[in-house]
Amino acid sequence: MRAVTWQGRHKISVETVPDPEIVNPRDAIIRVTSTAICGSDLHLYDGYIPGMRAGDIVGHEFMGEVVETGAASTLQRGQRVVVPFTISCGQCFFCEKQQYSACDNSNPSETRDASELMMGHAMGGAFGYAHLTGGYAGGQAEYVRIPYSDVGPVVIPDDLADDDVLFLSDILPTGWQAAVNADIEPGDTVAVWGCGPVGLFTIQSALLLGAGRVIAIDHFPTRLALAKKYGAEILDYTKVDVREALAEMTGGIGPDACIDCVGMESHGFTVDNILDQVKVKLLSSTERIHALRQAILACRKGGRLSIPGVYGGFADKFPLGQLMEKGLTVKSGQTHVQRYSGDLLEMIQAGKFDTVSLISHHASLEDAADMYRHWHDEQNLYTKIVLKPGLAKGAVSARQEMEHA
Ligand SMILES: NC(=O)c1ccc[n+]([C@@H]2O[C@H](COP(=O)([O-])OP(=O)(O)OC[C@H]3O[C@@H](n4cnc5c(N)ncnc54)[C@H](O)[C@@H]3O)[C@@H](O)[C@H]2O)c1
Ligand SMILES: [Zn+2]
Ligand SMILES: [Zn+2]
Repeated sequence: MRAVTWQGRHKISVETVPDPEIVNPRDAIIRVTSTAICGSDLHLYDGYIPGMRAGDIVGHEFMGEVVETGAASTLQRGQRVVVPFTISCGQCFFCEKQQYSACDNSNPSETRDASELMMGHAMGGAFGYAHLTGGYAGGQAEYVRIPYSDVGPVVIPDDLADDDVLFLSDILPTGWQAAVNADIEPGDTVAVWGCGPVGLFTIQSALLLGAGRVIAIDHFPTRLALAKKYGAEILDYTKVDVREALAEMTGGIGPDACIDCVGMESHGFTVDNILDQVKVKLLSSTERIHALRQAILACRKGGRLSIPGVYGGFADKFPLGQLMEKGLTVKSGQTHVQRYSGDLLEMIQAGKFDTVSLISHHASLEDAADMYRHWHDEQNLYTKIVLKPGLAKGAVSARQEMEHA
């Protein structure tokens, strides 16, 4: 089969690789019909996630048709399913608590030690996301093996198109969990850093959960326009001092909840961000945390901080005193996708989310290398890319042409 592979920093290639096979009775194999590139894939592309090996198949946002099932799978051939990026056994201590991304069984033992050494405990498994999370082949491919297929996949009714539901695999539940973790009270003012796909779903979720106002921060006009369309007031961090603007907009108090949808590759030319860039180059830090620092300083006293943005290790000049003195509550984590996906599917069916208008491009799987480059270099125009294994190379369509594809 054809699959998108990571070959090194800024090196992606589409290769012919062996087809996946059923390994365990609970496995299923799906034929991928749609798969998206995520902001998390950028961290791999930029070489910031440890534990990648040349040739690894990437991709963790995908859906498709069940083509093969193991003896203990509950899926049936021909069903359309969206697959959560988190691989979860459904039976361990963590899965029973619905903390699916912390599953204790899905990270195979050969990679557990390194993960445990770095994080204190082994992380759960995830598709296409380095050997510290299990080294599973990802979903930017024609076929994928789905472990624990009786737990994760969401069966999709025929009347919903791929684009309507694909993001149940990650960014929609991630935005939802980000807003849930902000413990929003009715009428709250919520500030969201980053208007990438995760930020855009966080904005929609915060409003659905009762926020009175959402203020979204980024600098790409197209992304800010989408944030506005979804109901946020917007701030361009290249044009205003974000902390001052937030204070002004909230009568000096600051937002009740602040959500970091940026993660470890914060942009910008502030002094702290330039220092972070130098430290990352010198390997004395693994993160650029400018947005997170700003969120902590901007948040109201006694407010809440939610961090869906991915961080990989150890940060420098983390405002710990400010966090503590202001009495902020922090919640974070990889998303417990399986916990939310059923409810979110019903909310999509009820028309509560716009899951489609953030997609800027559809392209063939064969064009993945170009698409990663665009996703990295042209974030203003490329707001979300969906790859289609069935399309011929060069079959790229941009937003206007594919609105109802
Ligand atoms: N917790 C999870 O399970 C989970 C799941 C999916 C993605 N993520 C993470 O969420 C983050 C966002 O993902 P995405 O797909 O939206 O990524 P993305 O790269 O498309 O979006 C990030 C956005 O942040 C903006 N940004 C950068 N610096 C900023 C700053 N200083 N202030 C305000 N905005 C700034 C960028 O302009 C960009 O639009 C990533 O770190 C990703 O890895 C986490
Ligand atoms: Zn993702
Ligand atoms: Zn488990």
